Amino acid sequence: MPKELPFRIGSMLILNKTARVFSKPSKSKIYAFLRSFNFSPGTRFLHKVVLGIETSCDDTAAAVVDETGNVLGEAIHSQTEVHLKTGGIVPPVAQQLHRENIERIVQEALSASGISPGDLSAIATTIKPGLALSLGVGLSFSKQLVNQWKKPFIPIHHMEAHALTIRLTNQVEFPFLVLLISGGHCLLALVRGVSDFLLLGKSLDIAPGDMFDKVARRLSLTKHPECSSMSGGKAIEHLAKQGNRFHFDISPPMHRVKNCDFSFTGLQHVTEKIITKKEKEEGIEKGQVLSSAADLAAAVQHTAACHIAKRTHRAILFCQQRQWLSQSHAVLVVSGGVASNFYIRRALEIVTDATQCTLLCPPPRLCTDNGVMIAWNGIEKLRAGLSILYDVEGIRYEPKSPLGIDISKEVGEASIKVPQLKMMI
Ligand code: KG4
Ligand code: ZN
Repeated sequence: MPKELPFRIGSMLILNKTARVFSKPSKSKIYAFLRSFNFSPGTRFLHKVVLGIETSCDDTAAAVVDETGNVLGEAIHSQTEVHLKTGGIVPPVAQQLHRENIERIVQEALSASGISPGDLSAIATTIKPGLALSLGVGLSFSKQLVNQWKKPFIPIHHMEAHALTIRLTNQVEFPFLVLLISGGHCLLALVRGVSDFLLLGKSLDIAPGDMFDKVARRLSLTKHPECSSMSGGKAIEHLAKQGNRFHFDISPPMHRVKNCDFSFTGLQHVTEKIITKKEKEEGIEKGQVLSSAADLAAAVQHTAACHIAKRTHRAILFCQQRQWLSQSHAVLVVSGGVASNFYIRRALEIVTDATQCTLLCPPPRLCTDNGVMIAWNGIEKLRAGLSILYDVEGIRYEPKSPLGIDISKEVGEASIKVPQLKMMI
């Protein structure tokens, strides 16, 4: 059972917080804030505040977010360094680290927010999809808090939370197109509402972040002095800046398949074959860093970017054909850990420029796993009156959970030919 958290902050401090909302307000923030006022007598709080908890993979994260999108407090413990040493996530290790950190992280987020547990509107926690052992820690800790503090519980779908984060930072109306690219997921979906998604395509094997992680590991990039503590994807992006992609020719996968699905395993294997060949040529052992590592990083990043851009281009054309996206304000949102890659963002910008769409990405810290997106998804659900639970006994985590209604077959049947774009990045 978590210890009683020592919060005895009175309404004065809360009023100071709300005053801060007005210190640098945008018009939309003021309107949203005014709308959030609740004048019923006896109500201590001016607007909804949600505590979000995330433990679906290798980050223990928590945040307190209010209805106007103010992040009142947040804390995160990343396990990346530990998993880099073991060469990948070992689920029982991730579980143990979540267990060791969750109470401190939640406490830090709450303390920073100045909100007392009694004044939270709800607790929102990722319950799907993700690693079973990791999800379990967040869910059981949240259940204890819900029972202790007598708060409603909002179960969160990790990918829905990634998809809706943009509505915290930008004014984006439904429907919009979303591309989620991370270490565990790769999908394209039309977002029609808070919990209303049409799945247009997904990876048939691994996600791009996973591919980058595997290639980075095979290249032994943790031994590279500039990349030792970076995730695989970040290390590839960093090294690629120093490399020449034209030194290797790696063709994009699924070139002739006219749907919006993705594949990254082939790309991984082709790159690994090149690495083995180069090791022989350079006369070095497996485990040492190749002199051509930067060129190879640049080539693999370019091919992945082209592949992602082409599938996304087709998804935009498909939605435009069906008039599912606004003619004047079509929006493509890109999120997930891989979305923090600026080379891939640039490739996607070439696509959105060619299709008169607006490309929006949350800031990098909100693209990777975080507690803010979970709390914000809780706010969205609270406002929409969706999945607000008062009894948590029957709630189970779900390691596998598809996003929305799968229409990828229909997308493939439309067999849309995508015009060639010059990817000069
Ligand atoms: O969203 P995220 O934090 O966790 C999930 O997978 O849900 O994404 C982590 C993934 C890792 O595979 C990491 O290598 C990749 O995102 N990543 C990147 C970059 N930063 C993180 N991939 C490419 N370029 C980056 N700059
Ligand atoms: Zn994620």
